[in-house]
Amino acid sequence: MHMVTVVGARPQFVKAAALSRRLKDARFSAIRESIIHTGQHYDHAMSGRFFIELEMPEPVVNLGVGSGSHGAQTGAIMVGLEQALADLKPDLLLVYGDTNSTLAAALTAAKLGLPLAHVEAGLRSFRRAMPEEVNRVVTDRLSDYLFCPSLPAAQQLAREGIEKNVHVVGDIMFDSFLHQRGKGGGDVLKRLDLEPHGFALATLHRAENTDDPARLRSLIEGLTLVSRDLPVLLPLHPRTAKAITALDLAKPEDLHLVEPLSYAETVALLGAAAVVATDSGGLQKEAYFASCPCVTLREETEWTETLAEGWNRLAPAGSAEAIARAIMDAREQRPSAAPAPVYGDGDAAGKILAILERAGK
Ligand code: UD1
Repeated sequence: MHMVTVVGARPQFVKAAALSRRLKDARFSAIRESIIHTGQHYDHAMSGRFFIELEMPEPVVNLGVGSGSHGAQTGAIMVGLEQALADLKPDLLLVYGDTNSTLAAALTAAKLGLPLAHVEAGLRSFRRAMPEEVNRVVTDRLSDYLFCPSLPAAQQLAREGIEKNVHVVGDIMFDSFLHQRGKGGGDVLKRLDLEPHGFALATLHRAENTDDPARLRSLIEGLTLVSRDLPVLLPLHPRTAKAITALDLAKPEDLHLVEPLSYAETVALLGAAAVVATDSGGLQKEAYFASCPCVTLREETEWTETLAEGWNRLAPAGSAEAIARAIMDAREQRPSAAPAPVYGDGDAAGKILAILERAGK
């Protein structure tokens, strides 16, 4: 079976790497994978570096679409994919998550009548104004195989009337996390001059937080308040870096602003951070895997399991004081019980491949 995997944005490289690695197992020799990179992310620090670091197969095609409005980006990916798939003639298309690359690939598969597999199916924020929510709902609706990271995701699909070929396989990011943790993280603490358990790791990139000046200001001010007691490391997504410049926000001198990190550095920092504050879905889960308390800088999370035992809590943009308080509380009120193993056994990739292999026979 020839499977084409479509990736485009940073978190998708981390997920796809786990599946490509597992595919090397002779047991899955019936599946041949070709990777198409849409080019949604293109900076070396956001893209190329991960292919090298995670030892991923080179994409057979890079569509090079780059940034743009949602319509322009999604449309450009569809046009490029249609052509690439005509040449590659796969038996199946596989997509991850909820980005515009995911949506564009799902629509293209549907139009070409190609079977579609969606990894990370069934996640919902129930906020249609979020571009990712539209992408998820449409992708799940169009998918032939739906791989859920946890049981509530499958239950959500059932509520939407999607029950065929729905499989709870665990979270493929957990596969990647365990693999990376086993390899160690080098000397990132030394490089960034941080003490173990003596800093907060923060990230911000969601449109709802970066594109609204008042919201962004409250978040930056909240993190700055925290940094009076606890150093805050803030690796900057290019969107956030541009927003800080464009909004003429006072450069937050007290925050430790750095370029985007590698995956190995991120995992190492998660093992050493006192607390994480983020609007990323991936980092919320990685904090959970690392038993690091997390504050999600949003009104809701798709990863509701992480909230149950207090390992994650919500603190939306708005009040700098409330954000700072939530982060300091999370640091001080560390749950006594370890995070529950709700995201599988670390071999989601093996389960996905076994199911696809059986289906291809
Ligand atoms: C996208 C996904 C989001 C995911 C995130 C992971 C959509 C709608 N959003 O958001 O779900 O969580 O990826 O990082 O698909 N930019 C660069 N260099 C790059 C990439 C982006 O400078 O390599 C800048 C550009 O100014 C661009 C902006 O970041 O306009 C936003 O990039 P885009 O791909 O539209 O969305 P993300 O915010 O990265």
